[in-house]
Amino acid sequence: MADKSTTLSIFTADVGGLVGHVSSHPEVVDNARERLSSAKGKGVISDYHVLRCGDDLELLLTHENGTDDREIHQLVWNTFVSCREIAQELKLYAWSRGLLEEFAGNLRGLGPGVAELEFTERSSEPVVIFFANKTSTGAWNLPLYRIFADPFNTAGLISDPAMLDGFTFTVHDIKENREISLKTPEEMHLLLALAGSTCRYIITSVSRNTGGETAAVISSQKYDIIGGKPGAKCEPALIVRCQSGFPAVGEVMEAFSLPHLVSGWMRGSHAGPLMPVPFYEANPTRFDGPPRVISAGFQITDGHLIGPHDMFDDPSFDEARKTANKVTDYMRRHGPFQPHRLSEAEMEYSSMPIVFDRIKNRFRKL
Ligand code: F6R
Ligand code: MG
Repeated sequence: MADKSTTLSIFTADVGGLVGHVSSHPEVVDNARERLSSAKGKGVISDYHVLRCGDDLELLLTHENGTDDREIHQLVWNTFVSCREIAQELKLYAWSRGLLEEFAGNLRGLGPGVAELEFTERSSEPVVIFFANKTSTGAWNLPLYRIFADPFNTAGLISDPAMLDGFTFTVHDIKENREISLKTPEEMHLLLALAGSTCRYIITSVSRNTGGETAAVISSQKYDIIGGKPGAKCEPALIVRCQSGFPAVGEVMEAFSLPHLVSGWMRGSHAGPLMPVPFYEANPTRFDGPPRVISAGFQITDGHLIGPHDMFDDPSFDEARKTANKVTDYMRRHGPFQPHRLSEAEMEYSSMPIVFDRIKNRFRKL
């Protein structure tokens, strides 16, 4: 299968929570598996895997159709819709919020998160996929910087000749809807000047300066605003290719040893630590959090997903989890005060404007 290209497509959607926004229901997850198993049987996709992080359902597909393929997006849409029907029967929480009507050929903008990567499989293709819950896509900025531009994290940047030339980061300015490519190590300071603003500048993909191959891609934006109010929303996902000229698996994982502060958590309005957890601990209960990240490692072999390995199911991440719990206590003691509570600008998707509206006429001019 040397030169045939494989597409890895991952999709995330919240089709209803058990209990509240904490988890999903086994029947919903099983239904997704059955649907995708049948599509695999018919040859529509090469392989699939279904995961869950918090109340988000995660579908992982491999196929030969390339990115943004109508048939694949239709399959995923139908799968999510049938999962939502089960969630509706069980009256799972907020089942109606995750998907917007109506499908017209592509899932982007309809609620689900979408991250797709088409590549020619190397002789061995290790890939690590991350799913987070109760946060937004800006959460990947810091780890992506550390993985692909920080030699204190990634030893290979200085010791692997194939990585010496560094990586190019594509950064999306979500306020002005424009993007820029910045090359590291040369433009590292410019990259950091932007990527530190995690609510505005989002690193969306990373590619090798030598050869231009894509090494990492994140899922598309988190919220769709309908009539000024939040519509469907999705949680962020990230695909990273590893080894042989890309960062080693362990260098990718190392970037999550610091449970860095991210936006999201309770009501999408608080800063809190991103806690790396095994699959079975991806249940954000304390103050609807703290935000979680899970990681699934696969070898992609002739289009098949060999795995997953539950990457954070490792005692070497116990300290990160402990730190996250300490930071959780510390941040929570700030209650409604910034910087635990996000700035008004970052809270624009919440109902705070309605609350402020109630007192707007009581302000006296100074
Ligand atoms: C954050 C999240 C939860 C909810 C919170 C209120 O992403 O999903 O923290 O925002 O539980 O939920 P509603 O508004 O559904 O009562
Ligand atoms: Mg939810």
